[in-house]
Amino acid sequence: MIAIQPHYLIQEMASEDISAVLEIDQVSFSNPWPERSYRYELAENPAAQLFVAKLDDGALIAYLGYWLIGDEVHISTFAVHPEFRRQGIGENLLKNALADAAKRGAQVATLEVRASNEAAIKLYGKLGFKVGGSLEGYYHDNDEEAILMSLNGGLAQFSETSQ
Ligand SMILES: CC(C)(COP(=O)(O)OP(=O)(O)OC[C@H]1O[C@@H](n2cnc3c(N)ncnc32)[C@H](O)[C@@H]1OP(=O)(O)O)[C@@H](O)C(=O)NCCC(=O)NCCS
Repeated sequence: MIAIQPHYLIQEMASEDISAVLEIDQVSFSNPWPERSYRYELAENPAAQLFVAKLDDGALIAYLGYWLIGDEVHISTFAVHPEFRRQGIGENLLKNALADAAKRGAQVATLEVRASNEAAIKLYGKLGFKVGGSLEGYYHDNDEEAILMSLNGGLAQFSETSQ
């Protein structure tokens, strides 16, 4: 069998994308963001940038948000539709976001991730993020520990590899 990579484009998220983003959010997280959070991020939060990946037919298959505060970019939300995982889309979207943040002055990237989220921790590690600490009971729905990861410098390197 030949695996065919889906063709998709990464673009800035718009308010019409919110319903498709919420669908992926709800199947990806035990504590998904409510619609009002996406509306706030898009319309009112000057620190927020949000991106989506869309197939040629317009179907939304992944999204990522970050906050840029000073020279630090913090990944706020990030998921790939379950049917499109393990095809490099998450990695590409994350690289694209880091390159975008670097252009806006980011030098450091930070995030928190559930201790049980092996897929995400491996992805961040692949891009050079290192574990910097942890927070016991950070996730209130199941009292799970958060792993804090960061990438110090070199964010501009992703400009050449992202779409
Ligand atoms: C984490 C997530 C965004 C990864 O997206 P993806 O498109 O499937 O990831 P990619 O195909 O780009 O994988 C890139 C790398 O990540 C790692 N990885 C991704 N999924 C993995 C898995 N299930 N198991 C182990 N490693 C995995 C691998 O290192 C992989 O590189 P490789 O293909 O060379 O082995 C996706 O699993 C997801 O949406 N999960 C639910 C939401 C979530 O956890 N978001 C992150 C919150 S912090």
